[in-house]
Amino acid sequence: MAELLSDYIAERQRSINKALTDEIETLQITSRLKESMLYSVQAGGKRLRPILMMASCESFVGSYTSVVPVAVALEMIHTYSLIHDDLPAMDDDHLRRGKPTNHRQFDEATAILAGDALLTYSFEVITKAESLTEEQKIYLITRLAQASGPKGMVGGQMLDMIAEDQEVDLSALEQIHTLKTGQLLTFAIISGAYIAGASSEQLQAIEKFSYYLGLIFQVQDDILDVTGDPELIGKPIGSDETNNKSTYPRLLGLNGAINKKQEYVNKAKQALKQAGVNQTVLESLTDYLSNRDH
Ligand code: IPE
Ligand code: IPE
Ligand code: MG
Ligand code: MG
Ligand code: MG
Repeated sequence: MAELLSDYIAERQRSINKALTDEIETLQITSRLKESMLYSVQAGGKRLRPILMMASCESFVGSYTSVVPVAVALEMIHTYSLIHDDLPAMDDDHLRRGKPTNHRQFDEATAILAGDALLTYSFEVITKAESLTEEQKIYLITRLAQASGPKGMVGGQMLDMIAEDQEVDLSALEQIHTLKTGQLLTFAIISGAYIAGASSEQLQAIEKFSYYLGLIFQVQDDILDVTGDPELIGKPIGSDETNNKSTYPRLLGLNGAINKKQEYVNKAKQALKQAGVNQTVLESLTDYLSNRDH
């Protein structure tokens, strides 16, 4: 499966990379803004959210190409969140996706605006998608706005900032991770299933799976910030320690964090079984996300 999974991932990465670049290239805008948007989008992210959206769609017997505009929108929002996350006022990081962070390559004002542009343009990308009905667009835009905004990623980033220099317990940490990271991953899973035509019962069942997937993803991100190889992860390690972040390794120790992650993996797989779908790829992707080295 390892070899097959890497082919599976590579094929979907190619499709999303092309669509993402095309969307931005066609914009007739100030060249500096376009360069800055393209710089971060083309810096080489793993595209895990688009891949999960495609896999979720396929689990409900849809075709992965049908989600491409929504996957592009989600990856734009994710990329914006990283540009802003790296700013001096936030995590103050210098390296992202193996390259200087956007504000280092350009300047702070440009980085802020490139982030704003990716965020707002993402919604336009969904509104002009020819493959979606009006009803689908409204559902998807509503859920994407909720996942990204004050009740989702942005709210989680605020909690993450507030929790700097503080002792938080496990449930508070789960809340931070669920919002800052989990909500966008949940959107990936839900939107893929929705576009494939899943029923509302099926959407509820798969949402439980995505809750644990979000936790697994961010726990591993926290672990890699301690044990990762900066060459592989494309960002410096030790950023959380420097910023006194509340993380799983800080709360539970490294082994405690690894055990907790395994617990989440078991729960995710259980939830996936209960969702009654073709689980193969989503189950393999769960292990892949849990064990990833970048
Ligand atoms: C990093 O996300 C930020 C988190 C939410 C933990 P990814 O690890 O998916 O970053 P890219 O897109 O591959 O750069
Ligand atoms: C940020 O989490 C998640 C976002 C919403 C961008 P981190 O601050 O841990 O992400 P990295 O480690 O810088 O990628
Ligand atoms: Mg951060
Ligand atoms: Mg960060
Ligand atoms: Mg991190």
